[in-house]
Amino acid sequence: MAFQRIGILSIGEMGYHWAKILTSRGIEVLTYAKDRSETTRKRAENVGVKCVPSTATLIKDADLIVSIVVPSAAKRVATKVAKAAAKSGRRNLLYLDANAISPMTADEIGKILQPSGINFVDGCIIGSATKMDKGAVVYVSGPQAARIQELESYGFSVRVLGSTVAQASAFKVVYAGLTKGLQGLFVELLMGARRFGLLDEILKRYEESFPGLLDKVTSSIVGLRIHAARRAEEMDELKRTFGHHGMKAFMAPAVQKVLQSIAELDVGKASDTGAREGDLLETLELFFKKGLLQQEQKQSSSTEQIHAAG
Ligand SMILES: NC(=O)c1ccc[n+]([C@@H]2O[C@H](COP(=O)([O-])OP(=O)(O)OC[C@H]3O[C@@H](n4cnc5c(N)ncnc54)[C@H](OP(=O)(O)O)[C@@H]3O)[C@@H](O)[C@H]2O)c1
Repeated sequence: MAFQRIGILSIGEMGYHWAKILTSRGIEVLTYAKDRSETTRKRAENVGVKCVPSTATLIKDADLIVSIVVPSAAKRVATKVAKAAAKSGRRNLLYLDANAISPMTADEIGKILQPSGINFVDGCIIGSATKMDKGAVVYVSGPQAARIQELESYGFSVRVLGSTVAQASAFKVVYAGLTKGLQGLFVELLMGARRFGLLDEILKRYEESFPGLLDKVTSSIVGLRIHAARRAEEMDELKRTFGHHGMKAFMAPAVQKVLQSIAELDVGKASDTGAREGDLLETLELFFKKGLLQQEQKQSSSTEQIHAAG
């Protein structure tokens, strides 16, 4: 049965683009946003999402609930939905967690939802919010995962990874390590190049040595202006996942620190249309001027010999 009404918690950048696609295909999208920021409420309004008065109404009316929040809020959202479902007696609600959470968190969410009879699908999204109907993929796992393939009729790409909850989260955690790792590495090195007055030259050299590589993460680097904190959380999830399985991650904590340093600059302003502002050079200049990675900088003799540009 096709979904008629889909509840999205919440209408952040990703939620906005889901809602845009779904509403354009005639699906009613619902959210509960009374406890959210003005930006989130405005985004919902701009994209034609119906803001219902309570989580209970959301549970009652939706065929599917999609959780797309910051990873640290994923359990809280599941708990709220489970409580509302238990109270209302609504059974067999389908719930997709599409957040970049660790497989352990996915398992915990499964346990939170199970007593309320909610059918939990673990999921993750690979690709940018603006490409949800142009190449981004929703990966899903769990016994009910195939039901999410219904979203394909609205322009989404959905791939079932397996019948075990946590497979999709594990997949995302390992994938995110690469994309966030590249972002962190590029930003760190490009701050250095900017400090040495070599930015244009190194960008040219990177392109000659690795054609297209920086291009692939440029939009994500620009997106760090607003998403660095959330992406730093993802690196924490990666570190915890490895730790849980008796492995030690060295790269993830380092990337987490770079992303956290960007978040601390507090330069982001989430837009209420879900659009990203700025280009790569402008973003790097903004980070540099705000002192990214420079606070503890020691004036070593080698760097003193190189004059900073500007
Ligand atoms: N953006 C992308 O291109 C992209 C790509 C792949 C995967 N993802 C995944 O999609 C998810 C969302 O990312 P995003 O970029 O949309 O983040 P975002 O723009 O920061 O939006 C997060 C949304 O979650 C809401 N929220 C935060 N805490 C909440 C809570 N306790 N209860 C309910 N809502 C809450 C926020 O509301 P407030 O405004 O009130 O804080 C905001 O509307 C993440 O798990 C991310 O890994 C995103």
